[in-house]
Amino acid sequence: MKFLWGTSTAAYQIEGDNKWSDWWYWAEKGKLPKAGKACNHWELYREDIELMAKLGYNAYRFSIEWGRIFPEENRVNEDALVRYREIIELLLKKGIEPMVTLHHFTLPTWFALKGGFLRDENLKYWEKYVEAVADILKGVKLVSTTNEPMELVIEGYLTGNWPPFIRDPKKAFQVEKNLINAHSIAYEMLSGKYKVGIVKSMPSIKFPDGRIAEEVENLQTFYFFDAIFGGTLKTPFGELRVLESDLDYIGINYYTLHIVSPDKDPVVSLYEYEFDGYGRTQMGWRIYPKGIYEAIVKASRYERPMYITENGIATEDENERIDFIRAHISWVKRAIEEGFDVRGYFYWSFIDNYEWDKGFEPKFGLVAYDPLTWRRIPKKSAFALRELGVSDYLA
Ligand code: NOJ
Repeated sequence: MKFLWGTSTAAYQIEGDNKWSDWWYWAEKGKLPKAGKACNHWELYREDIELMAKLGYNAYRFSIEWGRIFPEENRVNEDALVRYREIIELLLKKGIEPMVTLHHFTLPTWFALKGGFLRDENLKYWEKYVEAVADILKGVKLVSTTNEPMELVIEGYLTGNWPPFIRDPKKAFQVEKNLINAHSIAYEMLSGKYKVGIVKSMPSIKFPDGRIAEEVENLQTFYFFDAIFGGTLKTPFGELRVLESDLDYIGINYYTLHIVSPDKDPVVSLYEYEFDGYGRTQMGWRIYPKGIYEAIVKASRYERPMYITENGIATEDENERIDFIRAHISWVKRAIEEGFDVRGYFYWSFIDNYEWDKGFEPKFGLVAYDPLTWRRIPKKSAFALRELGVSDYLA
């Protein structure tokens, strides 16, 4: 397969009207910003894919909204399956490689209200969902089971900033266990037909003096992967048995460097970061391009092909965005030259979108849109992404 060069999105962040999802439910209750019509991609998917093709990208990573497919526990929405199939077919027709995520943070409301991934017995519903989606994936090569599982664990069960707004470390690791089990179930069902992997955030995590914060890195990254391959999840509260499986590739999301204090409990350090003098973005994140190389080195210990499934910056300054991309891909290039098996780069995001609890303020997109007419407005960086890829990757 050619080197993949494109952009990433997620269903809830761009589609609009995802009324069957837990985030919608909580937004209605005033606990989260509303996503509303988002970018109206559910209606404008043809135009968006057309634009990707025109901009010269050869790959696109997006997610399927579980709540659309199963709006109720026992009802499959066939129209939604048909729409996702159309999206896949159009991408294939345009020569854009689709990379499909099955779970990107949101859950059907009914599933969330049953306890979501906190309860082992709920995995049977996940299995039914994967079975339904399997029917529409023909022609797809790359499937990701779940996106940034540890961020869901951290934000949903440690900081309590995201649904279900819980702060309980024991529950957090229980959810981590079941996200690993969800991966393993889906891997079992789909591998062989597709390349099945996981998308993991891999920030650099260091002490103020520059040393790697190993215990925090273990909790964020290595214990998760070790559990998939070894069947045992290490947690600060002892070991949990999980379903052992495999990964056909590793998707790396890389954005930033976290500085943590050596005096703090590593679990607390997972979500409480120190501030210092590095460059900042609209998200308040440090700009640390070398970290993308460090992420590749970390992931490489599992000896699987790697894709940069997300890398991006929230900024209104196009020069800053282009510099950010340039700096990061030059570290990716260096890794490839050194022999690391990296097979693709996806910028987050194709279009400005709903940034979870931060709403629509952060601008990660290469493309803007007019919220009244929905007209798409490619930014300077939308063209630059192609240019930056041409000589090394898109030739
Ligand atoms: C990672 C998440 O997968 C995505 O949903 C989010 O918008 C970006 N990071 C930016 O925060």
